Amino acid sequence: MDFQEIPVSAELQHFDAYTPGEQPQENDLPLIKLNTNENPFPAAKAVLTALQDFKAEQLRLYPDPSCLELRKAAAAALHLPAENLVFANGSDELLGAVFRAYLTKSDSLALCRPSYKAYQTYAHLYNIPIFWLDVDTAFHFNAKQLRQSSAKVCFLANPHSPSGTAMSSQQLLGIFKENPKKLFVVDEAYGDFFGDCLYTIATSCHNLLVIRTLSKSFSLAGLRLGYAVANVKIIQWMRKVLDPYNVNALTQALGKVAFQNFSAMQESCMQIKQIRKKFAKNLQSLGFSLPHSEANFILCKPPNSWQKLGYLTKSHSAAAAVFKLLREQNILVRYFNEPGLHTSIRISIGLEQHMQQVFHVLKKIQATSKL
Ligand SMILES: Cc1ncc(COP(=O)(O)O)c(C=O)c1O
Repeated sequence: MDFQEIPVSAELQHFDAYTPGEQPQENDLPLIKLNTNENPFPAAKAVLTALQDFKAEQLRLYPDPSCLELRKAAAAALHLPAENLVFANGSDELLGAVFRAYLTKSDSLALCRPSYKAYQTYAHLYNIPIFWLDVDTAFHFNAKQLRQSSAKVCFLANPHSPSGTAMSSQQLLGIFKENPKKLFVVDEAYGDFFGDCLYTIATSCHNLLVIRTLSKSFSLAGLRLGYAVANVKIIQWMRKVLDPYNVNALTQALGKVAFQNFSAMQESCMQIKQIRKKFAKNLQSLGFSLPHSEANFILCKPPNSWQKLGYLTKSHSAAAAVFKLLREQNILVRYFNEPGLHTSIRISIGLEQHMQQVFHVLKKIQATSKL
């Protein structure tokens, strides 16, 4: 049928949506999937039991808009008052809510370059000017630049994404104090792998909103559940701009059980950190350089001697070539073809045997290409 397209708003004409990492389809070959920082271990057994026991009848009714039972379970696990928590359909939904609550076209947003791409995507969607902060070799941002900027809100991922490096809570608190008029949105998507987190004190800070997720440490990316911790006033504003029934009944029920089994999440983080340590050493033994990661992934750069691979595989960098060669071996990692990142690949930490397989493939590439 021939139809005339209704134009989207002029501001959206050149909008580029966020590009998520490849998600294999059911009929694809089995892949070692190390591209979106999912947790390779299953969620707590009790969560899987709760899924089987979930009463379908509950789906007839709307879910609790206040997520009270879920908030109570989370509050008990996190040792925080339930009134300082708000839940959403993944932490991405909370990022969008911050824009609606705090930013208009005449404000600006400070972002590290590079950082998690979704921040920039939301800024474009809501038409918010970006003030870019440079990062040093450890991916720590330039605090002086931030002080001098008029940005109203600053988004920081800590641990940083996509490098995995982290700044200490003391360091960050000092920066928040120096900038009392700015709101800091600290994205602790990978905080459970790090430990030195700010969510524990966000309740008493006037300019801090911490965003967290069950997608990584809790092995529940498919459930879509994230939460924010902040003082009560900030939480109330976030609640106002979120959809009324944003967290579905099944997600609320399973999320509650996940928090009641908090130690299962902590155990899986411990295991991932052990696997990460060994894999980092293996990468270094091949000459790769990598910043110290506090997350469940490693951003790594092939040694200079691997440049040759770029010509051999007609790729624009050694990192792009490694991405391609791993993909040919059914190993999926992430390559970002953008300034500051195009010489590296990001590899999520999977099961021990999968990381061994990645190491063997890399060793083989090195041997067969005589690098
Ligand atoms: C830094 C960071 N923040 C937020 C998210 C989104 O998490 P969620 O699955 O809760 O939407 C991700 C996902 O990869 C991430 O890397």
